[in-house]
Amino acid sequence: MHDNPFRPGFGISPPTLAGRDALLDEWREVFALGAWSPFRAALVTGMRGVGKTVLLNAVEDAALERDWTVVHGTLHAGLVETLERDRLPATLQEQDPEARSRDLVGLTVPSIGGASTQVVEHYPREPRLESMLARLVELAEQRGAGVLVSLDEVARESLGELRRIAIAVQHLLREDRRIAIVAAGVPASIAAALDADGLTFFRRAQQVRLDTLTLAETRRALAEPIRERGRSIGEAALERAARASEGYPFLVQSIGARAWEYAPTVAEITTDAVQHAVEVAYAAMGESVIVPALRGLSGRDRDYLLAMAEDDGPSSTSAVAQRMATSTGNAGRQRSRLLDAGIVVAPERGIVDFAIPLMREHLRAHPHDAQLGLPTAARQTFRDAPATG
Ligand SMILES: Nc1ncnc2c1ncn2[C@@H]1O[C@H](COP(=O)(O)OP(=O)(O)O)[C@@H](O)[C@H]1O
Ligand SMILES: [Mg+2]
Repeated sequence: MHDNPFRPGFGISPPTLAGRDALLDEWREVFALGAWSPFRAALVTGMRGVGKTVLLNAVEDAALERDWTVVHGTLHAGLVETLERDRLPATLQEQDPEARSRDLVGLTVPSIGGASTQVVEHYPREPRLESMLARLVELAEQRGAGVLVSLDEVARESLGELRRIAIAVQHLLREDRRIAIVAAGVPASIAAALDADGLTFFRRAQQVRLDTLTLAETRRALAEPIRERGRSIGEAALERAARASEGYPFLVQSIGARAWEYAPTVAEITTDAVQHAVEVAYAAMGESVIVPALRGLSGRDRDYLLAMAEDDGPSSTSAVAQRMATSTGNAGRQRSRLLDAGIVVAPERGIVDFAIPLMREHLRAHPHDAQLGLPTAARQTFRDAPATG
């Protein structure tokens, strides 16, 4: 009938980007070159699946609409080199009317009469990242725009790369040039970036903590794409789907996609379809979200989560410490690490709760995931009592 509008998974922009309008307006103001805005340097943080990457995509689109140049990168070792060697030169080549003549004059002298190729650096002492960014900004400013540097997946292991880029950007920001930077990562990585030497400039950056969606936003994220594609969903089915997602964007798309697929030739999406979708989407949460979130934790951190999972709702920090046979002060170290990692939230003093939907249920069903961070259903079969006969 119609193509499925929902986009389950990671990094793929949803049909309706719900609940982010006010935020995007802040960036639109930056790109419209209005008053100076703190969003010229912003750090986006939130747990896995909350929508960091697709927000960056939307910010980049807003920049492109205003004819800004976008330099996008996913942080990993070697990003700076890739930017310097390939991406920035390619962008400059497209935009710089002088690129051709510069190539001839400055960079390479082709071999003549058997002499070996000689490479001459134009400005050998200047860091290339800085000079190329500066040139891109200059070109953008000439057409009344600027340059957006957008960096995804900030991680501890690549803080060195982030530092190189941040220094170059900071330099231009200080000179009040038309440049903006946005970087995204899970809370623990952003916390590490804020602590790192050479990245202090980010402490003055706008912090954007992405939250899950409200019930109204969730309903809109589900209903709008369905209506736009000419199908319908009843009130009860919509409410059930929205509530089951808990406003967690990853689940919104996952449930939406499966409800759509259930009976694609029937116009209305029924409560049966939603019921089925919720079951399938919940089952997929473990591998897609929960196990990856557990992977980076220490055994002690996971013990803390297992102790929390004994409660049906929010846990008291002292009860958790007791279950771990330690003092509340000692358990506080795990608590703050888990808060940093975006895995737990502290709704009030002395209380902790899971940040990711279904983590409690998953830990109860698969306690070994917590101990090893790996699926161990297969291993468990070896521990069961030996079959007789
Ligand atoms: N505001 C939103 N409204 C609807 N769906 C969203 C929203 N934000 C994210 N999603 C969906 O949630 C999933 C995870 O988003 P993603 O940006 O990859 O998360 P993160 O980068 O934080 O791990 C994707 O399927 C995406 O389409
Ligand atoms: Mg992402």
